[in-house]
Amino acid sequence: MMTTHSDGIDDPASDRTEFEPTRALRLAAQATVAYRHVFAASRAASWLSRPNPVRNNGFGMTLTIDEVRQEAEDVVSLTLTSPDGGTLPSWIPGAHLDVFLPSGRQRQYSLCGDPDDLSSYRIAVRRINGGLGGSKEIHETLEAGDRVRIRGPRNAFPLVTADSYLFIAGGIGITPILPMVRKCHERGQSWRLVYLGRSRTTMPFLDELARYTGRVEVRPDDESGPPDITEILTTAEPGAAVYLCGPTPLMTPARGVMHTLNPTGSLHTERFSALPVVDGHRFDVRLAKQGTTVSVAEDETALTAIRREIPGVAYSCQQGFCGTCRVRVLAGDVEHRDRILTDAERQDSMLICLSRSAGGPLVIDL
Ligand code: FES
Repeated sequence: MMTTHSDGIDDPASDRTEFEPTRALRLAAQATVAYRHVFAASRAASWLSRPNPVRNNGFGMTLTIDEVRQEAEDVVSLTLTSPDGGTLPSWIPGAHLDVFLPSGRQRQYSLCGDPDDLSSYRIAVRRINGGLGGSKEIHETLEAGDRVRIRGPRNAFPLVTADSYLFIAGGIGITPILPMVRKCHERGQSWRLVYLGRSRTTMPFLDELARYTGRVEVRPDDESGPPDITEILTTAEPGAAVYLCGPTPLMTPARGVMHTLNPTGSLHTERFSALPVVDGHRFDVRLAKQGTTVSVAEDETALTAIRREIPGVAYSCQQGFCGTCRVRVLAGDVEHRDRILTDAERQDSMLICLSRSAGGPLVIDL
């Protein structure tokens, strides 16, 4: 039956029968839901979603910045939603997003919201003065209503099964830890968090942590003095899973003493900065397209040296797991220091954030 609007104009839409998806469409929809579950939210997600040499898979989406919120001194959080208000792909604690900034920079940020609320994602960013520009761009140019392209969620820092957990977060390292403590708390598991920082004003999400009475120890340097990571690790129960996310001065000694202190425990770390160069030697890199040569000092990466010549060269993690900095090698022997390129890929490419010359100059396709 044809209906009419009150203005008397026929409304053809009202005469349509309800859309009935074909069997093929229903199967495709079911497959998408299953994919999201298995690759992003299942127990196998962390294994199946391991970082690939080049991250050209995963969910690519453009999201709207719903809110930019000041969480602490020099820290803002961004709440991201789907432009159509739809549900976002599921994720599990420890997951991160690749965020593509308007300048073309690519950065990775841990999801720090509620995994059970898929109406939005939340990330938090500390402004690094004198850094490489990504955090500055977010703080100075992005605002509510803007859109950003993201890829993910992916998880390289999964929460393992354990009888008890000790979480140690340094500053912005609290971001992957927040959803972990939420999950452990919901499950009624045994957990504690030691939250370190320069001062309370620089430490985001203290208000959210206040509800976990008796579980969270906040230790700002200006109240408690510099942290003694060995002493903190001794507070973990035997066999505990220790999750540590923070700066290198916390991570390196923790790795050195964990096994001795807690032989049946496990240490899980995530870092937000470049790996230090170990056993480096000086070498030259010829940039074939530029027609110039850069000298790489023994204590810097090829990426750092190349950025002096090509500031916009692509990179992201600086730790050899995202593949963004992979370049084609035209000549020379490479000492590959990554663990993600296959032997075939190593024949003609390298990750300039880690790998170096095995002796003699390199010529690369930049
Ligand atoms: S592998 Fe991520 S920047 Fe090099």
